[in-house]
Amino acid sequence: MTNDAQPRTQWLGRWGFVLAATGSAVGLGNIWKFPYITGEYGGGAFVLVYLACILAVGVPVMMTEIAFGRRGRGSPIDAIRRVAGEAGASPVWSLLGWMAMLCGFMILSFYVVVAGWSFAYLWKMLSGGLAGSSVDEMAAIFGANNESPLNLGFWSTLVTVATMAIVGKGVQAGIEKSVSWMMPGMVVMLAILIGYGAFSGGFGEALRFLFTFDAGSLSSEGMLAALGHAFFTLSLASGAILTYGSYLPGRASIARTTLSVAVADTVVALMAGLAIFPVIFANGMEPASGPGLIFMSLPLAFQAMPLGTLFGILFFVMLSMAALTSSISMVEATVSWLTDNKGISRRTASWGTGIVLWLISTLAMLSFNLGAEWTLAGKHFFDWLDYLTSRWMMPLGGLGMVLLAGFVLKNQAFREELGLSPAWHALWLFMVRYVSPLGILMIFVDALGIAKLQFGSHWPWLLLVLGVITVVGELASPRLKRAFDA
Ligand code: PHE
Repeated sequence: MTNDAQPRTQWLGRWGFVLAATGSAVGLGNIWKFPYITGEYGGGAFVLVYLACILAVGVPVMMTEIAFGRRGRGSPIDAIRRVAGEAGASPVWSLLGWMAMLCGFMILSFYVVVAGWSFAYLWKMLSGGLAGSSVDEMAAIFGANNESPLNLGFWSTLVTVATMAIVGKGVQAGIEKSVSWMMPGMVVMLAILIGYGAFSGGFGEALRFLFTFDAGSLSSEGMLAALGHAFFTLSLASGAILTYGSYLPGRASIARTTLSVAVADTVVALMAGLAIFPVIFANGMEPASGPGLIFMSLPLAFQAMPLGTLFGILFFVMLSMAALTSSISMVEATVSWLTDNKGISRRTASWGTGIVLWLISTLAMLSFNLGAEWTLAGKHFFDWLDYLTSRWMMPLGGLGMVLLAGFVLKNQAFREELGLSPAWHALWLFMVRYVSPLGILMIFVDALGIAKLQFGSHWPWLLLVLGVITVVGELASPRLKRAFDA
């Protein structure tokens, strides 16, 4: 059992939490995943739904998660159990914590492979292995990098070891220190790339692609992807933010920190889009080229620009660091749960977790070579890990948490943790009770084919339904609460 008598570690500096949470949020999701899924789902409409999901779902869920963490002062499982217990609700709600912990672990299992690409490309930049002047040559280099399990395995193993080493060192010395200089560096690098993109000839097309809204171009699949990505990019419902929140000092404002993290994350994602798509269009590449998108496009830009090799090296250093500050946050939940409950040291917990992680990530890595044939319903193990976590587990976990916070628990705990003025608190409550759950449910209903919610044409109706449900919900909530608590 957790040792409640011992005060929990807290972030050292005033900026500790914001830096660490931003480090967690900003990662491969922004620079690798956002551009490539935007390319796959057709651009502007996807971007708009993604931004709406960040605001309507991401921000309220993040506030809720941080509040759970700080109130419960523990890993997701322990924190949710405690906060639920405090309000007399069932301990079964801690299943949400189990799912989050599993989710973080599953994400990390494929994340280390992608982070491994980044390290491999850094090495290629340093050793001159990226010579090539056409899209085809770059695609061939990307393919060759994946072909050998030994090569790919080497890089993902390196990422696993680095992650566990940092986590093993602890919250302050390991995590907090490593993020404080890396975020600004990343932003500068992206700004340089955008500057290059502005003169590459593809900038206008990139702007149009990213910001022209064409409702017809968005499928239900794309909406589900946008929702899932909002969760992924903000590190929600996967243990990371909740656990980091458990180290947050009592006086820090949860709303303000959430907003800073969400804004920083969104800015970096949009900057990445503006850096990458001009290169893609200028070189006649296909935006829907899949996970290899940035690895096949950016090296071309670096080659064409003055001092390109230097910038390329800096870029991949930053990308690798951004990946690490995210990867460490994915296991922090597991490591903190093990140290709190199993009486083992942080070091032992980290390396133990690392071994299991290494085994699963090796299977994910094999999806690109030896296991290329091992598919289930057309998806590799790597794709399954990504698909299950972003599309289903994170939105479901988020849904569970907002419903728990909005309807089941006594308001007092959240009032104290969030410390908002009555009007802002009412807004938060309205968001977690109605807007976020309905947003998540709508997208699920649509994706499961239960009803077609043609995006763009029916939204006045959706608003009306939202209004009706809100009124009914407000009237019924005292009963609901009693029913849940019983
Ligand atoms: N938010 C991280 C990124 O964008 C990924 C992540 C997901 C980190 C879940 C922690 C937990 O790269």
